[in-house]
Amino acid sequence: MFPKLESPAHTKFVTSEPKTKITVKSLKMDAVLKLETAPSNLYIKLPDGRFLIVLRAGNRIDHDRLNKYAGRGVTTLYSSEQDLVDVDVSDVADPDKAKIEALEKLSDAVFDELRVLGVTEKSFNHAKAIGKAVRNLLERDPVLSSAFAKFQDLGREDTRHSLMVSALSTVLVSSMDWVKPATHENVAMGALLHDFGLFTMPTEILSADPSTLSVVDRKILEGHAENGRALLAQVKTIPEDVMMIVAQHHERSDGSGYPLGLKDFYIHPLARVVGLANELVENYETDRKAGRRTSLRLLIEGLIGAQASKFNRDLIKSLRSMLESDILAK
Ligand SMILES: [Fe+2]
Ligand SMILES: [Fe+2]
Repeated sequence: MFPKLESPAHTKFVTSEPKTKITVKSLKMDAVLKLETAPSNLYIKLPDGRFLIVLRAGNRIDHDRLNKYAGRGVTTLYSSEQDLVDVDVSDVADPDKAKIEALEKLSDAVFDELRVLGVTEKSFNHAKAIGKAVRNLLERDPVLSSAFAKFQDLGREDTRHSLMVSALSTVLVSSMDWVKPATHENVAMGALLHDFGLFTMPTEILSADPSTLSVVDRKILEGHAENGRALLAQVKTIPEDVMMIVAQHHERSDGSGYPLGLKDFYIHPLARVVGLANELVENYETDRKAGRRTSLRLLIEGLIGAQASKFNRDLIKSLRSMLESDILAK
């Protein structure tokens, strides 16, 4: 049985015959593994949003099978709420849903910040719509969403940074001639996931002040770009563009970046945009930590003045024309 998912993706599905809405209840994999028998039909969510039955109501819990899914990153099983009506599931938490809600809240806060930084309403709404679409895609893929939940565990600041780079990358792309919606989505997705590989890094390296890291530890930290790409390569639905963004977001056009020190045209065009947005957001974060008031206009002018040689010429040209456009508040 493959009930078709209906929006919002994580809360409802509809059966095709008859078309009755069923409310989905999520169950923590760890909690289900402690049960003797399945309290109801249990499903996993497939990347395309459909549900696949893995255990029927009343059957003994097949630990081997569930552990196999858990090994692939599945942390949540699903049942219809109606089936569970007489079952005590009060101890069953829904960590993924909580993470998604936290991500939505943080995203709203980031967009508010972008508005304060001087992005005009039109461009702002476009970036917000793309951001929402991309988060829905991420949420629908069980492997990706559970891996992203691990990234979120690194802390609010890293998630906030990724959301900001994603929003700003979309604003930058909207100032260029790239009109394909898929390109905008890939940029937003790649930017959201650009530092994804950080959760594979040793805690002592992540928590250290970057300026105090040894050469060896710095090299390990630089591996987050390739680790992120390799993780995403395991997710069938991830476009190649997104993987390239993640792998190359620290490459710089003058060859000063990492991990490969690639020069200008050897860097994927979308990775160049996200790399630029990443730099702008890092400059913004430095200002914010120092208590300096700034705006997107000042950040762009600052980057053009001091760091232009690190970036593709056409990209810098786009930034200059952005200063004259209706994307930024006057
Ligand atoms: Fe990074
Ligand atoms: Fe970053």
